Parts: sequence; C-alpha cells; structure tokens
Amino acid sequence: MDALKTLFPDDVAIVHDDPRADRSGYLDEEERYVALAIPRRKREFHAGRACAGAAMNALGLTRVPIPAANDRSPVWPDGVVGSISHCDTLCVAAVGLKAHGYLSMGLDVEPAEALPADLFDAICTRQEQDWLEDRPLSERALLARTIFSAKEATYKCQYPLTGMMMDFQDLEISLGTYSFGATFRKDIKDFTKGTVLPGSLAVQDGYIFSAMVMTTQSRWNSR
Ligand SMILES: CC(C)(COP(=O)(O)OP(=O)(O)OC[C@H]1O[C@@H](n2cnc3c(N)ncnc32)[C@H](O)[C@@H]1OP(=O)(O)O)[C@@H](O)C(=O)NCCC(=O)NCCS
Repeated sequence: MDALKTLFPDDVAIVHDDPRADRSGYLDEEERYVALAIPRRKREFHAGRACAGAAMNALGLTRVPIPAANDRSPVWPDGVVGSISHCDTLCVAAVGLKAHGYLSMGLDVEPAEALPADLFDAICTRQEQDWLEDRPLSERALLARTIFSAKEATYKCQYPLTGMMMDFQDLEISLGTYSFGATFRKDIKDFTKGTVLPGSLAVQDGYIFSAMVMTTQSRWNSR
C-alpha cells in the first residue's frame, strides 16, 4: 500500500496485513496476553505482533516477542521503537531503530468513514468544531474522523515518553492535506501547553492513516 510509505522516513519499516487472517504462526510467548480474549481480538493482536515482527525483520532484526504492558502499550525490545494500529480489516505496524535517532512513534489507521455527529463534542475542541463548520457539509464528518485519528497517533507517540493518559480535549489538531499539527492544550510532562508536534496523514483504499515520530532531533518546548 503506497500511502503507508509516505507516513514515515525511509528507514522506518512499515508492514500491513489483514487482521481477519488465520494466525496459527503466532509466538507462544505473546499468546498469554490475549489468552482470555475472544477469537477476533486474538487475531487482531497477533496480526499486530506479526506485522511488527515482519517490520523488525525488514530492519535486519530477529523477531522477538513484544510483551504487552499492564496498560496495554507494547513493550518494544531494546534499541527499537514502534507503533501498532488496527481496524476491522487492516492492521499496520511501524518500527524504527533508536540507533537511527528514533525516540518514539505513533501510528493510527481508521476506516475513511464519517465520525458520528454525536461524538464531535467529545473528540473535537470548540476551535476544531468551528473549523469544521467552515468546511463543506459533505466533508465535515470525514475530517472529524481524521482529527480523531491524528489525536490517536499523537497520543501513542507521546505515551512512551511521558507515561501519561490524555483526553481528546487535551490536543488541538490543525489538518493539512498530508500533514497535521498537534497542539498541546495543557502540560503533559515535558510537552508543555502550546507545544506543537508535526504528524503526517495519508488516505488510501478507504483508510485514513496518521503518523508521528519523535527523534533526537525533534524539538519541543523543554528541549
Ligand atoms: C491505545 C488507544 C489510543 C487506541 O486503541 P484502539 O482504539 O484499540 O486503536 P488501535 O488499534 O489504533 O491501537 C491499539 C494498539 O495501540 C497500542 N497501544 C495501546 N496502548 C498504548 C499506549 N498507551 N501507547 C502507545 N501504544 C499503545 C497497542 O499496540 C494496541 O494494539 P494491541 O493491544 O493489539 O497491541 C486507546 O485504546 C486508548 O488507550 N485510549 C485512551 C487515551 C486516548 O484515546 N486519548 C485520546 C487521544 S488524545
């Protein structure tokens, strides 16, 4: 899927697959994290791990188990950062090397479908809703879904660095065509209020993709 290659720098490996596929080749060490889950969740989880493992292979690394922390975040092997996302029909994982300067990354895939109107207030800030109201009616709900996706990617990217939960109202997204900016509306540890982090967007085959990377070269308020 060409759009995926546009989301990250070339030295980040990104792999996708169908979470509905049979996962008989999963790693036993990872099965325990979904031992009690329903079959659909097991397939989704193992599809994410398989994609992440294939991405590690693409970087010349051996596939090793990726545990899930108690908060569900993936525990990447030493020297590796990455992110996993899935929706009903697609699973995607991105992996980069700390040796290449990567500190953290966040990835989200969503179906390119309207965000239900009753979720706008929860997901979008007042300013985002004002911006949406200036867009053509036919585009608004899809743009709102894109804002949602950008917030999910930003959340996943900041989490390994801060360990902080965030609310949708804690971020304000400004959307470009292939990029977005995520402004922190309150202090989240080192990401102080007003910090703007850049992300990338892509749309293909009925999916919206959002991605963010933090590197040793990234600048935010405290750096
Ligand atoms: C993790 C979360 C952001 C997305 O989960 P989701 O709706 O299932 O969507 P995705 O499929 O895109 O992502 C799930 C994957 O993200 C990863 N993940 C889970 N928690 C994570 C965290 N805290 N940080 C980074 N990655 C995380 C996992 O790999 C997970 O897949 P897995 O359980 O199969 O390993 C969401 O469930 C969550 O925890 N939300 C609370 C915070 C939030 O959403 N705030 C609003 C945004 S600012």
